Amino acid sequence: MSPELITEHFIIRALAPNDLLAFSQYRSMPEVAQYQSWGEDYSLSDAKALLEGTDYAHFGQEGHWYQLAIADRESEVLFGDLAVHFIDEQQVEIGFTLAPQYQGKGIACEAVNTLLAYLFNTLNKHRVIAITDTKNRPSCQLVERLNFRKEAHFMQNVFFKGAWGDEYVYAMLKSEY
Ligand SMILES: CC(C)(COP(=O)(O)OP(=O)(O)OC[C@H]1O[C@@H](n2cnc3c(N)ncnc32)[C@H](O)[C@@H]1OP(=O)(O)O)[C@@H](O)C(=O)NCCC(=O)NCCS
Repeated sequence: MSPELITEHFIIRALAPNDLLAFSQYRSMPEVAQYQSWGEDYSLSDAKALLEGTDYAHFGQEGHWYQLAIADRESEVLFGDLAVHFIDEQQVEIGFTLAPQYQGKGIACEAVNTLLAYLFNTLNKHRVIAITDTKNRPSCQLVERLNFRKEAHFMQNVFFKGAWGDEYVYAMLKSEY
């Protein structure tokens, strides 16, 4: 089953049907979509298809991505989401997105920190990585603040929204957490 992680300021849980309108609205904003795999045409139907295609009952399956909502504990207002990709039995890739009005408040930092505790301490994973566009400063600052190591700088490895882009790979081992 997917986790429910209670932090000081919010809950992290499986994405739910009531989240989808807000989820699709922030995903389609230019500043949110800029360095992401989706475009500004991201729609409510795309969000519904994403949720329908996710098997939260088997959370943690190798090769699968799961979206976790970051939501207010009482009002259920959606602040953003975490993406969790179980690369193999021991390694996980994570992603993170906040609606613009909830950025710059430390929410992503608290959410990723909570997710790391869950992945390393509860699921006993060995290595967590995050891949970011090298131009995505807020994303790089977030993982650097959390003490991820910069492991790689791939040059023009992704043809992305009409141009070749560079990516950093950041990683953290359980022994470094
Ligand atoms: C990447 C992203 C999630 C980072 O969000 P964020 O809100 O900047 O990240 P944090 O939670 O670490 O917040 C840091 C900011 O909050 C401030 N802050 C306030 N209280 C804080 C606290 N208690 N702890 C940490 N930071 C705090 C920091 O000073 C910092 O402000 P600054 O950007 O002016 O320096 C966000 O920019 C985003 O959603 N981008 C669009 C999607 C995207 O590109 N995702 C990454 C794909 S790889």
